[in-house]
Amino acid sequence: MEAPAAQGPAEPSGPAGASGPADVEITVTSPEQMRELGRRLAKLLRAGDLVMLSGELGAGKTTLTRGLGEGLGVRGAVTSPTFVIARVHPSLGDGPPLVHVDAYRLSGGLDEMEDLDLDVSLSDSVIVVEWGEGKVEELTEDRLRLRIDRAVGDTTDEVRHVTVTGLGERWATADVSVLAG
Ligand SMILES: Nc1ncnc2c1ncn2[C@@H]1O[C@H](COP(=O)(O)OP(=O)(O)O)[C@@H](O)[C@H]1O
Ligand SMILES: [Mg+2]
Repeated sequence: MEAPAAQGPAEPSGPAGASGPADVEITVTSPEQMRELGRRLAKLLRAGDLVMLSGELGAGKTTLTRGLGEGLGVRGAVTSPTFVIARVHPSLGDGPPLVHVDAYRLSGGLDEMEDLDLDVSLSDSVIVVEWGEGKVEELTEDRLRLRIDRAVGDTTDEVRHVTVTGLGERWATADVSVLAG
């Protein structure tokens, strides 16, 4: 467990080091609820936003992204991008495309991302990165981080704990507590 973020005005928060409001913790008890969380998340996002998902294999990162794709109304089923680093899901309407990245395969970090020739501008897209820690932070200071945990060693239980942290100016005033439903 991380120590709770310091509260109160003691620490001046300029745009550079601004961290958002306190983390939001959400308990999810089924894959369907994880999808629903993804659909709710879609309502908070706009073009240029970066969402970073962490959590072990089978935590539910792709399941959440599936719901996000539904919420954004994009084309194509969201699946684990097993053989590709990134997949672009164009909007079925006039919303932003969803760029789904599996950074597990991204050994070289951002340079490799820029070499992907994704056919869309990242600043016009909603970008979701699974396992991107230490690899894609340079994209933007503004990031919404979701960490998915399950009980250690438990592969049968469907309970997941999702910790949402908004980083940077973009998320300093956004109300991510709506994700708790
Ligand atoms: N609460 C839950 N949320 C998400 N997935 C769950 C949950 N409970 C069980 N699962 C199962 O765990 C697996 C998660 O797979 P996936 O979303 O591909 O994980 P990841 O992308 O993190 O490796 C799926 O088989 C899903 O049905
Ligand atoms: Mg996955």
